[in-house]
This record gives sequence, C-alpha cells and structure tokens, in this order.
Amino acid sequence: TDLVIQPLLYFCFSPRNTTWSGTFFGREVSNAGTRKSPHCRHPLSLAIQKHPHFRALFNLSTPVLLSGGLFARELWDSLSQYKAPYGWQGLSFQAINSTLSLLNDSESSKLFAASGKPLPNCVRCAVVGNGGILNGSRQGLNIDAHDYVFRLNGAVIKGFEKDVGTKTSFYGFTVNTMKNSLISYGNLGFTSVPQGQDLRYIFIPSDIRDYVMLRSAILGVPVPEGPDRGDRFLKSKLMNTNFGDLYMPSTGALMLLTALHTCDQVSAYGFITSNYWKFSDHYFERIKKPLIFYVNHDLSLEATLWKDLHKAGILRLYQR
Ligand SMILES: *[C@@H]1O[C@H](CO)[C@@H](O)[C@H](O)[C@H]1NC(C)=O
Ligand SMILES: *[C@@H]1O[C@H](CO)[C@@H](O)[C@H](O)[C@H]1NC(C)=O
Ligand SMILES: *[C@@H]1O[C@H](CO)[C@@H](O)[C@H](O)[C@H]1NC(C)=O
Ligand SMILES: *[C@@H]1O[C@H](CO)[C@@H](O)[C@H](O)[C@H]1NC(C)=O
Repeated sequence: TDLVIQPLLYFCFSPRNTTWSGTFFGREVSNAGTRKSPHCRHPLSLAIQKHPHFRALFNLSTPVLLSGGLFARELWDSLSQYKAPYGWQGLSFQAINSTLSLLNDSESSKLFAASGKPLPNCVRCAVVGNGGILNGSRQGLNIDAHDYVFRLNGAVIKGFEKDVGTKTSFYGFTVNTMKNSLISYGNLGFTSVPQGQDLRYIFIPSDIRDYVMLRSAILGVPVPEGPDRGDRFLKSKLMNTNFGDLYMPSTGALMLLTALHTCDQVSAYGFITSNYWKFSDHYFERIKKPLIFYVNHDLSLEATLWKDLHKAGILRLYQR
C-alpha cells in the first residue's frame, strides 16, 4: 500500500473556554520516553517550565496521538462529553472503537517512530503554514535543515522550493481541509496530497465522517456511507465537499501545537504575524488576496498566541 496512515491526532483544549486560550493539553503519544532534550541547547520544554503563564498551560507528558491501545470505557466516558475536535460527543462508541482498533500497533502511537532512523538527540521541527509571508522568503534551505518538517492543507511545493523547501515528514489535515484544498488550490498547483516513502499523515478527526473515512483508508476500501460514499480516500480526485463542519482551531494551529508537544525545538513558517496584511492569503497565489478570517477559526487569537510563544522563547516564529 502506498498509504502510510499516522494515528489520529487528538487535542484537548479547555472545553470550558470557547476561545481555547485557556488550559490546553495534548492527549496521548507519549514522547516522554523519547524526549532527550538535555542535549538541546534551548529545549522548548525548559522555556515552558520557566514561563509564569505558559507553564500552567502545557502538559508535555500527556500523549498527543490517539491509538487503539488507549481506547477504553473510561476514555469514552470522559471524551464523549466534548464536541469534536476536543472529544467524541455525538459520535458512536462502535465507530470510534472499530476505527481505533485498526490503529492498534506501537507504530500508531508514536509520531517519530516510522522511519526507523534513530531519533536525533535534539529533535528540531519546522512547521510550515501556507501564509503569504513565505512568498519570496528564501527560507527553503532553512526549513529543510530541520529534522522533521510538518506541512498541511494546500501545501504547494513545486515552483516554491526556494521559499518553502522540499522536505515533508508529516502532512496534517482534516477531511474537510484536505478536500477543500484540492478543490480550491488545484489550479494553483495543489493537485494531490503529498506522497512519499517517509511521509506520514496526521489525521485530525473532526466528525464521525472522518472516522469512517479513516477506516476506509486503512482498509483500502471505498467509503461505505455518508457524503464521501465511494471515495477511495487519498487516491481519487476528490470532488465532494462539505463546508458545514469546519471547526477551530485551524489545522495550522493543530500542527504547530502537535510539534510543540513532541519536538525539542520548533520553528513556525508561514503562520499569521501582526503584519499579515502586507502579504497574500497564501504564498502560492498569483495575485495578492487578503487573508480571509473565517468564522470557524480565530486567527487573531492564534496570531497573539504565536507571538507570545515566540516572545517566551518556546517557538521561533518566522517574521519579516
Ligand atoms: C500531565 O499529564 C499526565 C499524563 O496524562 C498526568 O498523569 C499528569 O497528572 C498531568 N499533570 C498535570 C500537572 O496536570
Ligand atoms: C472494541 O472492539 C473490540 C473488537 O470488536 C472489542 O474486543 C473491544 O472490547 C471493544 N472495546 C471496548 C472498550 O468496548
Ligand atoms: C489493542 O491491543 C491491546 C494489546 O494487544 C489490547 O489489549 C486491546 O484490547 C486492543 N484494543 C483495541 C481497541 O482493539
Ligand atoms: C510574491 O512576491 C513577488 C516578489 O516579491 C511579488 O511580485 C508578488 O506580487 C507576490 N505575490 C503575491 C500573490 O503577493
């Protein structure tokens, strides 16, 4: 199979706080055993520990990936109280269990396990958003110099190598954002989901639809039901779309938070900055388009969070 499925990614932000700026914590993949940050000169975990505000918001020992081995009645009871992507409210126990039981090997619970290569002592990650700030940035070599490169949604590479690099270790998406990217940015060069030997997909389930899709992808069979019926996930030209069930935070935010929970150092490229209005919405557009603030995301909040994490030395935000 040409499809390497990476476990469900799952984040839990404070459900009490609709703006998710409050407590947030990952749930699952324990990188606790693999984190060897003592070898890093400036591990982000240290910057978090030293910070009076962020110290209380991160818990780096909670795993971020969800895999079959973690599924139990107790987990269901606690997570079914919260709506996607924070939890499983409105989803069926059976559907969750039958999908998760397919992700029941040790590979599925570790973000960096797949390649079989030894983990660097200091895991340096670049998370590449698709912001217009990258157009003309010449950051390609800097991005590729990281141990792992995360990309997401309509990550166009061809023709933009000098600005965004070529390496892709992880591609993150929700069914919605991936499908919408293929439809909206196909004519700008995003004609297929990134493929590659060492590449792993980070799947962010936001709906029951996503669990059904994931199951079909793992089994290599067409999707049996719902709006995506008949799709051979990640293989066909995907035409269906459904704009109704997008959610916040943005996929970029989820990828960046994943990296923060698993890497020792994180650089963010192509993420919203305070001077976003100077740049096009995406780096691959041919004509400048203003950044769109969709109602389902809170980009202003995200911008503030990235800036504050940058100031705190927890991540490095590319700005110009
Ligand atoms: C952090 O997460 C771990 C694992 O889920 C948990 O045992 C621990 O109590 C959490 N720590 C705090 C301060 O919440
Ligand atoms: C999940 O499904 C498997 C296989 O059908 C079953 O053995 C297991 O008990 C189920 N898990 C729970 C928590 O019910
Ligand atoms: C996953 O595997 C473990 C150990 O092999 C087993 O105990 C557990 O029931 C499995 N979980 C599911 C959801 O199949
Ligand atoms: C990308 O950068 C080039 C060179 O700086 C500029 O001419 C062009 O207008 C930019 N494209 C967009 C969509 O902003």
